[in-house]
Amino acid sequence: MTSGLQALEYRGYDSCGYAFLLGNTIKVEKRVGKGKIRELFSGIPERTDSQACIISHTRWATHGKICMDNAHPHMDCKNEIAVVHNGIIENYAHLRKILEQKGHRFISETDTEVVPHLIEEHEKHMRFHKAVMKSLNELEGSFAILVLRKDGPGIIGARKGSPLLVGFYEDNFLISSHINPIMEYTDRVMFFEDGEMFIVSNNGIRVFNLASGGEVEKNSVRIKSGFAKSDTGGFESYMQKEIFEQPEVLNRTFESFSAEIDRYDREIDFLPGRIIIVGCGSSWHAGLIGKYIMEDFLRLPVDVEYASEFRYRNPVLLPDDLVVAISQSGETADTIGAVKAVQGYARVLSICNVLNSSIVRESDYVFYTQAGPEIGVASTKAFTSQLATLYFLNLLIGLKKGVIAKSSLKKRIEEFKELSGKILEILNTMTHIEKISASLQDRQNALFLGRGIHFPVALEGALKMKEVSYIHAEGYPAAEMKHGPIALIDEHMPVVFVSGAGRFSAKVLNNMAEVKLRGGYIITVTDDSVSEMKKVSDEIIVVPHIDNEYLGPILTVVPLQMLAFFTAIKRGCDVDKPRNLAKSVTVE
Ligand code: G6P
Repeated sequence: MTSGLQALEYRGYDSCGYAFLLGNTIKVEKRVGKGKIRELFSGIPERTDSQACIISHTRWATHGKICMDNAHPHMDCKNEIAVVHNGIIENYAHLRKILEQKGHRFISETDTEVVPHLIEEHEKHMRFHKAVMKSLNELEGSFAILVLRKDGPGIIGARKGSPLLVGFYEDNFLISSHINPIMEYTDRVMFFEDGEMFIVSNNGIRVFNLASGGEVEKNSVRIKSGFAKSDTGGFESYMQKEIFEQPEVLNRTFESFSAEIDRYDREIDFLPGRIIIVGCGSSWHAGLIGKYIMEDFLRLPVDVEYASEFRYRNPVLLPDDLVVAISQSGETADTIGAVKAVQGYARVLSICNVLNSSIVRESDYVFYTQAGPEIGVASTKAFTSQLATLYFLNLLIGLKKGVIAKSSLKKRIEEFKELSGKILEILNTMTHIEKISASLQDRQNALFLGRGIHFPVALEGALKMKEVSYIHAEGYPAAEMKHGPIALIDEHMPVVFVSGAGRFSAKVLNNMAEVKLRGGYIITVTDDSVSEMKKVSDEIIVVPHIDNEYLGPILTVVPLQMLAFFTAIKRGCDVDKPRNLAKSVTVE
């Protein structure tokens, strides 16, 4: 009964629960905690009968504290209607007030609980599925919702802004917010548009348009399989496994691009005048590295925007803009919002890791990253495959712009092949990096500094460190240190410098000297001026040199991932499920 939830537990949650029909009642089980789902629900027998109707949920608290009452499913007053919900009901306070005035009793602080009560209220005047439809039309905000009613028609589901799909397995319907849990059973799937509602019952599936109420014809599709069931493959955590998978992922990215290049070239049939990259978290950092590459190589203006800011900023868009949306999951609410905000004004290309995800389906063009399922909450292999994909996109636009000739394209692609061997060399220095992490494990703070294309790498290194080890870490451009962070430097402050070969070596060395003078503890990641940097560094991690400087970040970021990983392990942290974080942030 909980195996579906187990397949999604990596995404982060603080409580969970499910509801199912038992005789003439709805039975609800809830648990608080982020332990393993299997352990949280141990002792509860599995339901295997084919008539079972079950809805389940993992909650990542937004409205209301983490407690049993606030965990889903939520019920109406008579305990006849159970609801699970992803997203945020923005007008819940208003709806709750009206419902309370009508006598409905609420037991949680959540936005979701208004839904079963609203349905209960409307059901006084109309049939159940009409009452659900009317209620959903009154909700503002975003939702993927499932409703189960005692003596009802089966399960009703609907989506607006949050993902939901149905898989078909023998006579069963497997409803999920993500494709992973159902891929084990079936490759036949139905995706829904925003504003669609479905009913699954013994009679099959019916789909409706929420606004018009009319029935919609919809077909299922077969999706490419090849999503092996995820396990840690002998590693102690997904994060470690995913760091170590990077050589293989980059080879796959290379092969996929080489095979698809002509198709991409045909599909993207225009030359952008400007590129606007949108994303969140690590995907935003990847975008920033893309800016350094593309501005330099293509001589095109490239803006990089936090999706959450961009979507509400009323940005100026031009007809030849290309908006590049980067997202591992393809379900990040703010990135979806940014994509929707530009539809009709600019073309959208998404760089995404999940087949048919919401962002992919809203985009004009898609480049799939070849990372495979990423389970660790902190992005590692998806990040490097985003960098690889941006590099290839850059070459492709370069071809259109005439910056690069088709004859030399092959050589630039071939350079990429050197990467996986070099990453292997870095992975082999594991013991050295683990040793260095001992000097970080008891620190409160850390600074990560870099220049040029390695500045966003410093940002990503700091993000990894704070995400998994809970050490407060900040990334800065190395020179910007003088405008504030330098005040923090003393013998308690570790400073991680990221430096790639090139025009900045001397300048980075100056910044190191400034830190050294103030007693800072220097850890350097470099492929550059090794001997001079060694003199000022307390610890040094040398990465193999690569002539193509656009590919440098794919190498320098790997030791930073490992440093964060080992530091977190030494501090006893759960690297795969860091506290408060979610893998896929489907709320804005
Ligand atoms: C969350 C994840 C990060 C990820 C970010 C953006 O914060 O924990 O690892 O970088 O979302 O996610 P996306 O799926 O859009 O890349």
